[in-house]
Amino acid sequence: MFRIAVLASGRGSNLHALIEASRRGELAADVVGVFSDKPACGAVALARAAGIPTVALMPRDYPSREAFDEALFSEIAAVQPDLIVCAGYMRILSETVVRRFEDRMINLHPSLLPKYPGLDTHARVLEAGESEHGASVHRVIPALDAGPVLAQARIRVIAGDTPESLAERVQAREHPLLLRCVQALAEGRSFAVPMRLNNDNQLEPAP
Ligand code: GRF
Repeated sequence: MFRIAVLASGRGSNLHALIEASRRGELAADVVGVFSDKPACGAVALARAAGIPTVALMPRDYPSREAFDEALFSEIAAVQPDLIVCAGYMRILSETVVRRFEDRMINLHPSLLPKYPGLDTHARVLEAGESEHGASVHRVIPALDAGPVLAQARIRVIAGDTPESLAERVQAREHPLLLRCVQALAEGRSFAVPMRLNNDNQLEPAP
């Protein structure tokens, strides 16, 4: 079975979507480990409850970003993942570990990249008066949120939207987007052209 390691720092709703789809047999992949920089986060609790091995290390216990990443990624390497999924992992990765796993690491980002890399995307989208927003799954390269986009899901920004309402609608699309991308990678698809998630939650070439 295709083996996924998940990196997460937050609530873990995307991790939950992956675990459930795998359990239901809708995703031909297993979450074989969950790795975090936040031992108390929801994602770690969720993984433990699901009986999935977790490793959560505290950055303050390490002298540098590189030392922390080396420790965490040697644990990740130990589960022999076919794919590493950053699903709400909020720490910037050091170049050494990215280079080592670059061919098999993806990130989920809450904006239509290359627009709005970094934090607070929903508020920035509203401030800029955008009519569209969404989420992207992209390959991880050393530059933050800058790797090639595999697929995106779009939503309309509507009158009265707040950062919270946008976050809720973007997250609802993130889950099927991430599942479809992981499934496609598990099937060995190459994403030669960027894809988009259509209204039937299927990937199709982006126009
Ligand atoms: C998602 O919105 C993702 O795009 C961002 O962090 C959030 C994680 O949510 N990088 P969750 O922890 O999966 O619920």
